[in-house]
Amino acid sequence: MKEFQFFLNTLIDFGCGKIKNLCNYIKEYNSKKVVIVTDKNLQDIGLIEPIIDELKKFNIQYSIFNRVEPNPEIHIIDEGASFVKEDSCDMIIALGGGSSIDTAKGIALMAVNEGSVSDYLDGRGENKKKIVNKPLPLIAIPTTSGTGSEVSIYSVITDENTRIKDSLTSPLLYPKAAIVDPQLTLKLPPRVTAHTGLDVLGHALEAYTSSIQNPLTNVWALEAIKLVFENLPKACNEGTKKSRENMAFASVMAGSAMSHCGGTIPHGLGCPLSGHCDLPHGLTVGILQIPMIEYNKEVLKDKLYRVVKYINPNIEITEENAADKLIEMIKDLFTKINVKEILDEKEINKETIEAMIKDAEIHGCTGLNPLPLNYEDIKEIYEKIIK
Ligand SMILES: [Fe+2]
Repeated sequence: MKEFQFFLNTLIDFGCGKIKNLCNYIKEYNSKKVVIVTDKNLQDIGLIEPIIDELKKFNIQYSIFNRVEPNPEIHIIDEGASFVKEDSCDMIIALGGGSSIDTAKGIALMAVNEGSVSDYLDGRGENKKKIVNKPLPLIAIPTTSGTGSEVSIYSVITDENTRIKDSLTSPLLYPKAAIVDPQLTLKLPPRVTAHTGLDVLGHALEAYTSSIQNPLTNVWALEAIKLVFENLPKACNEGTKKSRENMAFASVMAGSAMSHCGGTIPHGLGCPLSGHCDLPHGLTVGILQIPMIEYNKEVLKDKLYRVVKYINPNIEITEENAADKLIEMIKDLFTKINVKEILDEKEINKETIEAMIKDAEIHGCTGLNPLPLNYEDIKEIYEKIIK
């Protein structure tokens, strides 16, 4: 059996109404004042209220930093860190989707370390600054089912000057607790549900097929893939409590799997696409799933067979046609959640494609794809999804 390591330094508190446990975690760290890192939209629609109610109930001092934006940029992290220092906050609560949690991770790091967050990004290579002080403790409360950031060592940050999506990577970035309360996702609009749900599919399918796949997380990845096919259409179109719960569960399993095994083509090429063209992360990851299967199908026959059989044991397939069957199933999923399989070329500035290819070539997930990709391979894949 393949050897593996597994480490997850985040307590997962999963279930409807679990938000009531928030202050227990805050007390564990003797916090004097917490900061809620979120975006203005979530504040405006009142999703922050249950958090504030809990803090008030236990007389916990708090501030709100509500400047999170999609695809978080360096300057927002640095501004958030200054805010936290000036306001003497000693603990961070991240409320929102991946952007809020990634921003909060960066702020937790930069509130106690010197310089700008740009100094600590993986893209700095050998010039990357070493983390000297442990980040402030962070509690992640996802309000979408998709990010996986609540159980990962990564924070994805966009350089506003180059539009390159870079990462902070450190086990120190694991949130101390992830409160995964599916009740917070009940009012998510269908489009956001669809995009974040496709991100879950990507985390699971890519972790399962990555060149560093892990026997333990493979079990979670398969279960997460099955849950996405069974629940995402209902979560998008009806928003039932059960489908939301199952998507939240799938998200935690898929996020943990990807945190250990990385991604492949969809994240390797999707991150540059989303960074340069300001498109939702989950959408770009979603539309790259089919090209990933097509590109790797010769070396993934047995794995793709197992995926299809796990989703539906009654399907009559062979290893030879499993890839085609999975592609057909993904196309059907796209139809059910009302997402197009290709991007309209009007959405893409063609001049940026060169920059996207360059970024994709060096993206960590591209390197974990089962088959290597060169410049031409990446170009061909981008051309397939932009019509
Ligand atoms: Fe993702």
